[in-house]
Amino acid sequence: MTLAYGNLIQPLQREHHLQDYQKAVESFNWQDVEQHFTWYKTGKVNMVYECLDRHVYEGYGDKLAIHYINGDIEEKYTFAQLKQKTDHVATVYKKYGIQKGDRVFIFLPKNPDCYIAILAAIKIGAIAGPLFEGFMEESIKDRMLDCGAKLLVTDHVLGKRVPKSTIPTLETVLIAGEPEQCEAGEISLYAELRNTVADANVIEWGTLDDGFIIHYTSGSTGKPKGVLHRQKAMIHQYLTGKWVCDVKEDDVYWCTSHPGWVTGSVYGLYAPWLNRATVVIHGGRFDADSWYSIIEKAGVTIWYSAPTAFRMLMAEGEQLHLNYDLSSLRHVLSVGEPLNPEAIRWAIEELNVRIHDTWWMTETGGHLIVNFPSQPIKPGSMGRAFPGITVAILDEDGQELPNGEIGQLCVKADYPGLMKEIWNNPEKFQSYFPYEGWYVSGDMAYKDDEGYIFFQGRNDDMINSAGESISPFEVESKLIEHPAVAEAGVIGKPDALRGEIVKAFIVLGPLYKPSSALLEEIRLFVRNHLSAHNAPREIEVLEQLPKTRISGKIMRRVLKAWELNLDPGDTSQLDGGVLARVAVVS
Ligand code: WTA
Repeated sequence: MTLAYGNLIQPLQREHHLQDYQKAVESFNWQDVEQHFTWYKTGKVNMVYECLDRHVYEGYGDKLAIHYINGDIEEKYTFAQLKQKTDHVATVYKKYGIQKGDRVFIFLPKNPDCYIAILAAIKIGAIAGPLFEGFMEESIKDRMLDCGAKLLVTDHVLGKRVPKSTIPTLETVLIAGEPEQCEAGEISLYAELRNTVADANVIEWGTLDDGFIIHYTSGSTGKPKGVLHRQKAMIHQYLTGKWVCDVKEDDVYWCTSHPGWVTGSVYGLYAPWLNRATVVIHGGRFDADSWYSIIEKAGVTIWYSAPTAFRMLMAEGEQLHLNYDLSSLRHVLSVGEPLNPEAIRWAIEELNVRIHDTWWMTETGGHLIVNFPSQPIKPGSMGRAFPGITVAILDEDGQELPNGEIGQLCVKADYPGLMKEIWNNPEKFQSYFPYEGWYVSGDMAYKDDEGYIFFQGRNDDMINSAGESISPFEVESKLIEHPAVAEAGVIGKPDALRGEIVKAFIVLGPLYKPSSALLEEIRLFVRNHLSAHNAPREIEVLEQLPKTRISGKIMRRVLKAWELNLDPGDTSQLDGGVLARVAVVS
């Protein structure tokens, strides 16, 4: 079967929370959604109360909240146990002076401790700062310094990567482990839990406008920026969990993302738990066998992942999944990068499910453009605007473009999930809103006559590799810190598996000659300071880089055109000395 780009794929016949998209759009009102929450009546707001505690008070304490699987290790926690554990960890945080608004960083692998540590912070009104487990020293330091982290929860393995003495605001380091795993100055969280009694009323009430979580996201210029979300986002997150992820009472829900990324927190914790589902946590790295076995073992019904993961599973061939019983799966979703029609075709043929693409960003706090399980999918399209969300394609003057024309993908800034601020950076925050009332995403897209949106790329130089946004600026800055690298220009190079890979063009200092050992050393330099996903998979040594004549800025656009054998377009600004790609060969 071949799926043509844009051809309709009809839904599989099942009952879904949202059956009639058009009707939902016409009658939509965010205020109606507010009635779901306890604060609608009490006026007392806390995200974790809505995710955990209320389920216990409403009689669901024995329902399974977490099913953790890591190889042969399995752990299960009910909602009552999770309420107690988050109360307990929050009690320890309070003992160490954490108050409303303080920043608590969590640097742990995907395991129950990580989820509990995040929720415990939010429970007492602190701002949780979860960090992706793949980060290395500098990525960690940038974020904790910017945010003024006061407390860190980590373990004895990841904790070694944190340059604690360079973060002056950091008062307490809790190790999710035993005292013998702690270094000088660190405190064993497990011992603290044994020695304190959980305060069952530790919760701190706040308002819908209070910040509760901060996620850092890379930009094409400068250091990563801290996107702060407010509790009000729960309205958006609850409803998209219900209508897009189609979470129901008895669902077993698995989101493969780490909670350090926004997908892993919003659709890994809040959306499923606001809807009272069982959350599956998979510890360990990607490997096709263990992924399929998670679905079988936990009986996963809803699975949220990313195109690169689906492509990796496809690359395993068509036999592997036959070894597993995947019949529990009823709904599959994707995010983070363009979902190719080929992956949708594979899922229908091999797994008997459609993959539902979703589009949103760290800054948007929740889904904005989606495919619903009850609606037709057009392969190649990210779907349609969620009810209550106004999406438009605007030109450079902020005027709406007609259907079919490519322009800036923008969203009306009038919905509850949108970020509260960029931490310590009001100018950056303002830069997202150049046209009155509109949030500008930085993505380019077009809309068809039925409202389906088709992604066309970024309008800056941001690289999207395996769904992770990578800043060329950050990689270039790191590259030139290596003594052998005089200049660096970094681009995204198209890649069949990862969407794009990081490709670096460098000029070596006068004393250095290219060799594969040197290039590997340079690659590892980036990997060991930032993270594996930032490290260039290809490095090419050139005699000179294309730069602008006046400011000497490296023209990534020209590098990209050279790489893709395309016309570099307007090169009138190009410094006349560098007109072609001249490689230096060892
Ligand atoms: C890209 C992830 C194509 C896009 C939730 C966006 C996508 C950036 C899709 C945000 C999609 C996200 N199709 N591209 N369905 N979803 N993107 O902040 O360029 O990590 O601006 O948030 O990922 O990445 P972020």
